[in-house]
Amino acid sequence: MSNLQQYIDLETVLSAEEIVHFLNSEGDTTLQLFTTARKIKLNYIGNVVHFRGLIEFSNICRKNCYYCGIRKDNNAVQRYTLSEDEIVSAAQFAHQNGYGSIVLQSGELASPQFTDFIERILRKIHDTTNGQLGITLSLGEQTEETYLRWKQAGAHRYLLRIETSNPALYQQLHPNNPLHSFHSRLNCLLTLKKLDYQVGTGVMIGLPFQTPEDLANDLLFMRQLDIDMCGMGPYIEHEQTPLYAYKDSLLPLQKRFDLTLKMIALLRILMPKINIAATTALQAIDPLGREKAIQIGANIIMPNITPSKYRQHYLLYENKPCTDENADDCLSCLEARISMINHRIGKNERGDSLHYQQRKRNT
Ligand code: 5AD
Ligand code: SF4
Ligand code: FES
Repeated sequence: MSNLQQYIDLETVLSAEEIVHFLNSEGDTTLQLFTTARKIKLNYIGNVVHFRGLIEFSNICRKNCYYCGIRKDNNAVQRYTLSEDEIVSAAQFAHQNGYGSIVLQSGELASPQFTDFIERILRKIHDTTNGQLGITLSLGEQTEETYLRWKQAGAHRYLLRIETSNPALYQQLHPNNPLHSFHSRLNCLLTLKKLDYQVGTGVMIGLPFQTPEDLANDLLFMRQLDIDMCGMGPYIEHEQTPLYAYKDSLLPLQKRFDLTLKMIALLRILMPKINIAATTALQAIDPLGREKAIQIGANIIMPNITPSKYRQHYLLYENKPCTDENADDCLSCLEARISMINHRIGKNERGDSLHYQQRKRNT
């Protein structure tokens, strides 16, 4: 087994076997993994965390992913959509409070009206914040034309999780119809790259039927796709979903948490200059989950800035944190948490990944 220390100044290719070895590791080997990833992060990125204010502006979704609490067929969900003004106000809150970027996220909707709605909002946000805010979209699979229009209206980045890079596992987690096709999803990621978005993807960790080999391949997939950003988190079961039937076959929550930290550390070693989010799902398992992720390689936090009254309706998984808080609460909470781990917030900075900046210089 290779000594990780030698990789600190290199962008390293670990083999799938080596990755599996670290995913299965405990004790000193895991510690070595975390220490190396931490050093790499401090070397390339430093002790800075960038914020993306997350606006979950609608929980209406046309899809039926088996794992997700807001899937179309879950009739227990009270559906909502924020008004244009509510969305723009949330973006202004982010801007005024020094968040360099926002993420607009919703269930997957697709219609000419929806494309227009987002386009109008992007232009309004651009105008009211002097074009200073970095804007990430997380709005699922769309046509190339829609992606292009949104980019021209001011979006810079797009997050579309592949969920798993194993097509057979993808199929087990989704209904068998064209709306839920692995290949369409992959094509969307390629289209987004072609359109010159900063592209982010990610996977869920600890899914039923998922193996350590799958997870190793997920990391190699991300490297192969040459992504700029990643958001990955533990799978957390939701009672009102079909996948809940497999809850007894899952790894214990703590193990899913540990595995997620290892995935983040390994990705930091494989791709030293990308942006990696410390996702909220980590905090659903461990109150210090996001801090732990930052200490071993993550550099992005997505504070929720959705108006409080809507938050309890955007429950993709159980025990989602911050559903009773408002944007001010989350801001002061995070400021304290980040200074406690000797990091600082990159206020008023967009925080584009070094990976992206370097890619741009080379083209
Ligand atoms: N547990 C963890 N993450 C989930 N997501 C959806 N459902 C769950 C769940 N039960 C994630 C998916 C999706 C993102 C918006 O939320 O990865 O892409
Ligand atoms: Fe809809 Fe996304 Fe949930 Fe799938 S994961 S049901 S696309 S909100
Ligand atoms: Fe929301 Fe701590 S981040 S309350």
